[in-house]
Amino acid sequence: MVELDVAESYQDENGNEIVFDGRLEGNVTIVFRGRNNRLEIHPEATFRELNVQFDCDNGTALFGHSVGSSWRVRVGEDATVRVGRGVTTTEVCGVSAVEGTTIRIGNDVMIASEVQIRGDDGHPIFDVRTGVRVNPAKSILVGHHVWLGWGVLVLGGAKIRAGSVIGAKSVVTRKIPNNCIAAGAPAKVVRRDIAWERPHLSLAEPPYKPDISTIVKTERWWNLTEDSPRSKADGSGKSRGAGLRRRAERLRDGLRESHD
Ligand SMILES: CC(C)(COP(=O)(O)OP(=O)(O)OC[C@H]1O[C@@H](n2cnc3c(N)ncnc32)[C@H](O)[C@@H]1OP(=O)(O)O)[C@@H](O)C(=O)NCCC(=O)NCCS
Repeated sequence: MVELDVAESYQDENGNEIVFDGRLEGNVTIVFRGRNNRLEIHPEATFRELNVQFDCDNGTALFGHSVGSSWRVRVGEDATVRVGRGVTTTEVCGVSAVEGTTIRIGNDVMIASEVQIRGDDGHPIFDVRTGVRVNPAKSILVGHHVWLGWGVLVLGGAKIRAGSVIGAKSVVTRKIPNNCIAAGAPAKVVRRDIAWERPHLSLAEPPYKPDISTIVKTERWWNLTEDSPRSKADGSGKSRGAGLRRRAERLRDGLRESHD
């Protein structure tokens, strides 16, 4: 095992490497336990804390040009963590990707305190009858310009589309469409057709911001929510696909009954 407390250009005999045209120290820990792992950092990126642990082989972690963000990242076998540019974190954001999964965090994502983005459960759970794993690791997408509120947990299989806001202490397990607010555990859409902007309510002028005329609008993130209002995450708990499946099941059951 190699543990580094400096991030700079690095290569070792196990094929592990850091691709970084810069140097970071203080609150930096990079651990290589296996082989052929790769950490790539944008030359102008800075961090308040950077802790990346490559536990196995063939892991990749890529950090775009963000300033002063904080990360505690675990990368397992064949897994990838990709963080875009302009991403901010209030405190340390925990990320875990293992078993060939990918966690992608887009550009201009705003991450509040106590947020975890993890595609795996850390330990295996099996079906007692079959011995088959019931909690496979899954990939995660956090789209561009997404705001993850305080204490949000993003779990494997989550796909949050661009421009959406996830409410405090929510648990995201599924697809969340663009430009909406989703909240709860599991998170469901509670409001559609919204856009959020970065200026802080009390730190940025003016001290009251009742409408968009009070700040500069970031036009590109102002979009209507695109998914059908009856998508799975719309709070109804139903989807067209699920409805059709149920109908097909009823028909099949009906046919079976008539054959019996
Ligand atoms: C989600 C949030 C943005 C409010 O959005 P909103 O569209 O104004 O939501 P409303 O207050 O109208 O509530 C809509 C529904 O969602 C529920 N809800 C709102 N926030 C929720 C949350 N965090 N968790 C669970 N449910 C929540 C409400 O109870 C309400 O449910 P109901 O329709 O059954 O009564 C806000 O509650 C929130 O969580 N903000 C997080 C802010 C944060 O973390 N900041 C950190 C600093 S970066």
